[in-house]
Amino acid sequence: MLRRDSSAHTTGSAGCISLHDVHKRYRGEPDEALCGVDLEVAPGELVALVGPSGSGKSTLLHLLAALDRPDHGTIVIDGFDVARRIGAGRYRRGTVGLVFQLHNLLPNLSAAANLEVVMFGTHRRRQERRARARELLDAVGLAGKYKDVPTRLSGGERQRVAVARAFANEPQVLLADEPTGSLDDASTATVVALLRDHVAAGGTLLAVTHDSRLLAAADRVVTLTAGRITGDIRKNDAVTLRVAAGAGGLE
Ligand SMILES: Nc1ncnc2c1ncn2[C@@H]1O[C@H](COP(=O)(O)OP(=O)(O)OP(=O)(O)O)[C@@H](O)[C@H]1O
Ligand SMILES: [Mg+2]
Repeated sequence: MLRRDSSAHTTGSAGCISLHDVHKRYRGEPDEALCGVDLEVAPGELVALVGPSGSGKSTLLHLLAALDRPDHGTIVIDGFDVARRIGAGRYRRGTVGLVFQLHNLLPNLSAAANLEVVMFGTHRRRQERRARARELLDAVGLAGKYKDVPTRLSGGERQRVAVARAFANEPQVLLADEPTGSLDDASTATVVALLRDHVAAGGTLLAVTHDSRLLAAADRVVTLTAGRITGDIRKNDAVTLRVAAGAGGLE
């Protein structure tokens, strides 16, 4: 219910994320934030992105969301060449949902209006936008907080508004930057369940996280170190590794 049926996509690449040799250097910075990232993420997997502070995780998500562009390399999502940014607005509204690390809620708008505003320009009429905003806030445990502006919400409540907002336009691809960092165990369980539902329904998900509660739910963990992918482990591989290590295979 939170996202569109993936059968609505006509190509076989629905929701696939594909990065090749992606470089990004911020103006005035001596070092590249990303230096040659190759990554493929397929729908149906909960992929966690980990790495030290400053390793380029948020930069990578911003490029994927077409909020910024790489200096070099290709980024193709759902068949859309993100780096070219032609039609980026439609892409952002129609394909991708982003949970920002710092939430980025509009301070003068209520929780519900923060969701409704991202549905402007879509097929949904006003009443429908309103109903969907409330449905999504209910889903993250914020019934009764519809009318509160962000300054009247706790950090965890703001984070849940940001998570709900990312689902507003039923994205095929969900990009989440520390989506559970401010949440207690109960709210984390709610958000993790929503993320798992998203991938179970054929959605694509890349979540930056250091939260062991979300890592436990991940199918795959990708590590970024100083702008480079330095690790990529699937849960099954990890089990195999542990078994091998336990049997002395890696000692
Ligand atoms: N707008 C910007 N202008 C200049 N440098 C930036 C900008 N945004 C990020 N950087 C730099 O790029 C590098 C990567 O930053 P990024 O925010 O992607 O790291 P991160 O892995 O998300 O870190 P954290 O875990 O602390 O959120 C850092 O060295 C950072 O200082
Ligand atoms: Mg970050």
